[in-house]
Amino acid sequence: MPLDTASHRRAAFDRDGFLVIEDFASPADCAALIRRAGDIVAGFDPAEAASVFSTVNQEKTSDDWFLTSGDQVRCFFEEGAFAPDGSLRQPLDLSINKIGHALHDRDPAFDRFSRDPRLADLLADLGMARPLLMQSMYIFKQPRIGGEVVCHQDATFLYSDPPTVIGLWFALQDATVDNGCMWALPGGHRAGLKSRFVRRPGGGVRMDVLDPTPWPPVSPENGYVPLEAKAGTLIVLHGLLPHLSGPNTSDRSRHAYAVHCVDAAASYPADNWLQRPPSFPARGF
Ligand code: FE2
Repeated sequence: MPLDTASHRRAAFDRDGFLVIEDFASPADCAALIRRAGDIVAGFDPAEAASVFSTVNQEKTSDDWFLTSGDQVRCFFEEGAFAPDGSLRQPLDLSINKIGHALHDRDPAFDRFSRDPRLADLLADLGMARPLLMQSMYIFKQPRIGGEVVCHQDATFLYSDPPTVIGLWFALQDATVDNGCMWALPGGHRAGLKSRFVRRPGGGVRMDVLDPTPWPPVSPENGYVPLEAKAGTLIVLHGLLPHLSGPNTSDRSRHAYAVHCVDAAASYPADNWLQRPPSFPARGF
């Protein structure tokens, strides 16, 4: 189905739970974000945080560095970044898993990229009344150690009532099966939300299971499709769509940038892991 009109895009998104829009960002725009992310990592003092980002064991992420990053620009290490003696296996710039979670509000280059008027139009086409840019991540998916992101729904991490989150995922480098491209289960967004990642009243976080039925094992036979994407491609993800990305087993990095928007018309619970202080609230376009 062609994606050249708003109604085509809306129909494909409602049917599949995702859209793939090639050539959205120019090579120059991709290169500018890659450079800017490199500058941020170069200015990062690893002693500041030994936080390891992992989606395999969520409990490990429940430290202050992570939980207070909603309005900050912070670096998070790959799980496999450290040798048993605590030293880095690779140079620092090849050891960072991601930068999060307010690049779009704190960094002028990411702010400009994230608030492209074409994105506001696209979200309106998809039915989002008052988009708020709630979270942004720069994902490195480093050569050889870039970790997997297990099958999940973005509404687990950015819940609203009703669920409204839409992910805008930009390939800044070519993403292939070998270097850990995204995979999705087309139509899986109609199955409902399986879990919520919430703050515990006493501190830390937990996963609240709403539907214990496991995802079908990840394989093409079970309907999963790889979303290989050339640099500059935008992948739009429905917040309930099951998706994942494999480890990067190649020698090539797979840099991507993602922004997650929620509708201000829905309520955003106080127990969501990601919170913005009243003095620095999430903004729209
Ligand atoms: Fe996701």
